[in-house]
Amino acid sequence: MDIFVSFVVFILSLLSVESTIHMKSIKMKPTGWDSQSENKFAEGKHKNKIECPNGTVPILRTKKKHVIQSQEYSINNFTVLTAKYPGTHIAGMKIVEKHNYRGVEAGLRTYNLIIDKNQSTSAQAYVATASNDDANSIQVGWMINEQLFGDKRPWSYGSWLGKHGTGCFNVQCPGFVQVAKNDPISEPLKLDYLLWLTIHQDKETKNWWLTQTNPGDVSKIHLGYWPKELFNLLGDGADFVGFGGIVTGDPRTPSPPMGNGRLPNKDDRLWSGYLDHLTIIQPNYTHAGFNDLMTMPLVDSSVCYDVNYVGYVDEHVGIAVSYGGPGGIKCGD
Ligand SMILES: *[C@@H]1O[C@H](CO)[C@@H](O)[C@H](O)[C@H]1NC(C)=O
Ligand SMILES: *[C@@H]1O[C@H](CO)[C@@H](O)[C@H](O)[C@H]1NC(C)=O
Ligand SMILES: *[C@@H]1O[C@H](CO)[C@@H](O)[C@H](O)[C@H]1NC(C)=O
Ligand SMILES: *[C@@H]1O[C@H](CO)[C@@H](O)[C@H](O)[C@H]1NC(C)=O
Repeated sequence: MDIFVSFVVFILSLLSVESTIHMKSIKMKPTGWDSQSENKFAEGKHKNKIECPNGTVPILRTKKKHVIQSQEYSINNFTVLTAKYPGTHIAGMKIVEKHNYRGVEAGLRTYNLIIDKNQSTSAQAYVATASNDDANSIQVGWMINEQLFGDKRPWSYGSWLGKHGTGCFNVQCPGFVQVAKNDPISEPLKLDYLLWLTIHQDKETKNWWLTQTNPGDVSKIHLGYWPKELFNLLGDGADFVGFGGIVTGDPRTPSPPMGNGRLPNKDDRLWSGYLDHLTIIQPNYTHAGFNDLMTMPLVDSSVCYDVNYVGYVDEHVGIAVSYGGPGGIKCGD
């Protein structure tokens, strides 16, 4: 076991959050959410895991070495909004038709990709607002990133960018309020695993929740939330939502693969990496699909990576988008 799950007294995390953002009380559940199916999922998924004592939550602690290294991995060097740093490439889509989006849902399948120690490859869904020089975003998904996680497996992750340039990955600094007792925001994932996540703004509190759907029985568990106080541009929804893949690496070395490593250039949806169960949450909090015309592709190096709207497949898949590519030496800066 190279993961250390330490049981940290709930009150400690509460205090540390409280001291930075002055929260009045911790929310255990998004407002108005049916809690029927949550427990079933929690029990099923964690039959063989240690239960945290009541009143405590799991905090996933990586080895000290990794913590130090991951601090060098600045949140500012990882943005979903543009591929502005050399060596960063993006192939995704955003939906900008309306403002005040309340969230996004995506099924993100993990793939076995071999990449270098100093590189990362990831798939994510996000909500964001950007104005002039300022941007806020919340993104969730999976990532292979040895510097950040200390091994070569895909890990689930969540990161945020908030007011005054604050932000971070997972729970490396106060921000995300972990609520689920047994499901940390960041943990290693199996290959070919469907990581099915929803970011959604609570109608009453305006906090941004992260909810995971179990692909087996479609039950849901609320992992936790990012309090609204972290943000200056996400108070009343997000200007756009998006999803896709991002890679990072040293621009002097070949770019890493994205998705499953193949370009989405065949009619077969399963040929390349894909995202499914794609749903937007509208300004009035209802969930909805979207068509090709509502999407704006974000691709900075189409020789190496691309994205393709597939559309509605069936009730088991929902709306899908294929994405990714092999990377290599011709991707540009
Ligand atoms: C923890 O809380 C649950 C539900 O409130 C209860 O059923 C269980 O007995 C408690 N466990 C302990 C060890 O107190
Ligand atoms: C990381 O971000 C900083 C600014 O936040 C920038 O100066 C630096 O060049 C970036 N590093 C890489 C590798 O892109
Ligand atoms: C990885 O990055 C570190 C610091 O950014 C650098 O010192 C090292 O040479 C890099 N290693 C490789 C294999 O590129
Ligand atoms: C929510 O907004 C959508 C799009 O504007 C509209 O089609 C739908 O009827 C609205 N739903 C409710 C319950 O108001």
